[in-house]
Amino acid sequence: MVVYTPEWQSFHRLKDGTVAVLRLVRPSDKPLFRQAAAEMSAETMASRFFSPKPRFSDSELTYLTEVDAIDHLAVVALRRRSRAGDRPVGDETTDWQGIGAARFIRHQDDPTIAEFAVLVHDQCQNAGLGRELLHHLAQAAQERGIKRFKGDILATNTAAFRLIDSVAPGAEWLTNGIIAIVEWDLRHSR
Ligand SMILES: CC(C)(COP(=O)(O)OP(=O)(O)OC[C@H]1O[C@@H](n2cnc3c(N)ncnc32)[C@H](O)[C@@H]1OP(=O)(O)O)[C@@H](O)C(=O)NCCC(=O)NCCS
Repeated sequence: MVVYTPEWQSFHRLKDGTVAVLRLVRPSDKPLFRQAAAEMSAETMASRFFSPKPRFSDSELTYLTEVDAIDHLAVVALRRRSRAGDRPVGDETTDWQGIGAARFIRHQDDPTIAEFAVLVHDQCQNAGLGRELLHHLAQAAQERGIKRFKGDILATNTAAFRLIDSVAPGAEWLTNGIIAIVEWDLRHSR
């Protein structure tokens, strides 16, 4: 039975009491990605994209949100903005805030391996959301026949090291200057 369908959702309570909803990404999520990029710190965006990224271009938004959910899949986390004053200025249309995303992209030369990445909004870090996103991403990948995840992490990124050690205690690390390459067998994910 396939669990990670467009209907799948899961919930995670954050430290401030708000509840994150996790589900697969949709093409209609572009405004959430655009707003999240504007809200996120330069450090968080640089840790994920390896370069400053104050905004996404239209083609990047298409790439990030229009995925086939087989070879390229993303789990997103969002929460309701509690008060009208929390909404982005000039945007009365969305009551939701994008607060995290984890994605995999299957390797073309070996379909059992996928590249993964994860990002959590600064306001919601260190509250278990990265772990939750990565856990579900690994489960969804296994459903689709992926056996191993690989990723590039800045060698100074302590939070990402701790996150991966928590989800994949047997992960293998190879540090190559400023980049650490991590790889793990998804059967050992927690
Ligand atoms: C890395 C990142 C995704 C972690 O997400 P998160 O929601 O903060 O992580 P969690 O709360 O699930 O914590 C997972 C583990 O990391 C630890 N951790 C989280 N933030 C930490 C920090 N700033 N410093 C040290 N450890 C940290 C937690 O204590 C936890 O460890 P434990 O399981 O041993 O208790 C988040 O910091 C982030 O988005 N960073 C920018 C993007 C990035 O670096 N992505 C990774 C490369 S693709």
